[in-house]
Amino acid sequence: MNSIWLDSIKDFTNFNSLNSNEETEICIIGAGIFGLTCAYYLSELGFKVSVIDKEYFGKTTSYTSAKITSQHGIFYDYLYKSFGLDFAKDYLEVNEKAIQNIKNIIDKEKISCDFEIMDNYVYTTKNDELQLFEDELFALNEIGYSASFVDKISLPFDIQGAICFKNQAQFNPLKYLVGLYNSIISKSNKVYFNTLATDVKREDDKYIVKTNYGDITSKYVVIASHYPFIKFPGFYFSKLYQSTSYILAIETNSELFDGMYINNSAPIFSFRTAYYNDKKILLIGGGDHKTGQIPNYEKSYGYLEEKVKQLYPDSKIIYKWNTEDCISLDKLPYIGPYSSLYPNMYIATGFKKWGMTLSNVAANLFVDYILGNENKYAYMFNSFRLEPIKNSKEFKNMLVDSSHGLFLDKLKHSNVDLDTISNGCGNIIEIDGEKFGIYKDDDGKIYAVKPICSHLGCLLCWNALDKTWDCPCHGSRFRYDGKNIYGPGVNDLETFQL
Ligand code: FES
Repeated sequence: MNSIWLDSIKDFTNFNSLNSNEETEICIIGAGIFGLTCAYYLSELGFKVSVIDKEYFGKTTSYTSAKITSQHGIFYDYLYKSFGLDFAKDYLEVNEKAIQNIKNIIDKEKISCDFEIMDNYVYTTKNDELQLFEDELFALNEIGYSASFVDKISLPFDIQGAICFKNQAQFNPLKYLVGLYNSIISKSNKVYFNTLATDVKREDDKYIVKTNYGDITSKYVVIASHYPFIKFPGFYFSKLYQSTSYILAIETNSELFDGMYINNSAPIFSFRTAYYNDKKILLIGGGDHKTGQIPNYEKSYGYLEEKVKQLYPDSKIIYKWNTEDCISLDKLPYIGPYSSLYPNMYIATGFKKWGMTLSNVAANLFVDYILGNENKYAYMFNSFRLEPIKNSKEFKNMLVDSSHGLFLDKLKHSNVDLDTISNGCGNIIEIDGEKFGIYKDDDGKIYAVKPICSHLGCLLCWNALDKTWDCPCHGSRFRYDGKNIYGPGVNDLETFQL
């Protein structure tokens, strides 16, 4: 499962892994768009920076839809009613600035990344949602932003209405990251791939970031690893959940639209165009569900395929992939100090699927944290806030999922017999009261793992769609052979020969 973004930079192979201990000023864990934007700005200021990533350019950025917009769904009415007018205004302002900041970097570094200014639309096909759109327009009007309401868009179907934000943008996120990488390296700073951070220790006034290839000692640490992998302190696993969504890349001879689009409620359809071998293609996304809930084909890729066949009958699927996003309980990111116990360690997470602009917002905040400057937007993303946990229905749902994964499901007896698992399938069996996760490949070769999550020990579920072991508690995922794919768990699963 590759994305078109990954294939578009497949010739980019001239990179290194860490191969010895080293000392730096700032160690950034995670080389996705947030980690590298942070490293880029800090390099420009003359700081000594080392970035590490357990794989390549950050898993989430490699599989995103890459819309650069301050329109994060129908959101401003929520911000206005929940946090007040100034808050909603600041959120819009800082995200609009982020669009311009990204453009400035692309222009300055001359990055060729298919960047295009595009209008963004949130639309509805449901008459009973129009009131929500009116409320959103009212909030935007109060903020002083001139969004327009339209009843026609250039997608090939009728709608009830849409709100348009002008002058947003789209690009190829990995070509952009290659540009950032080149600039960072040119300042004698370091980016190491295939380098897994396993722990962070505090010694005197420094941190030691432990990796599989050596230690990095630094004054500052920035956790840019999507879902924070350090469990305590911080307790971010009690403040975030993960959501999986699906994307198809489609070739068609039909004329494609301009603009970026997403509807307001399930079933979600997200549309944008992109370039593949210099040809304009369509990306359609949706199928969102909480990670760890077992997906089925019809509700993920299947319904997107159906929609695209209906809209573009000659369409041909050239890529399909899925991705994970971290979402906080109040829908706002956590950006700031990691914990009062860990000075000079920072975190940004919970971008809620809108990480292109929010990663730039976060990177600018960290520059100010490290320089000791005040940032007028910092208050919105307070990383110590507890309010969302206190009253949230989602927090109760998380507790229920965790108690099932940690205790109740482990007590359930599995009646599945090894012989009854067909080739290409996986399931949990029991031998002498002990649970084993079994996958049989198409030739009948058996892969056996201990189906216990390496994060906090929840019982994993088999995901037949991707042939992975998924955690219902906080969304870690592991390949059929036990290799960790998504955190917060970092270690692979224990494996067995049966
Ligand atoms: Fe937390 Fe699995 S991700 S226990």
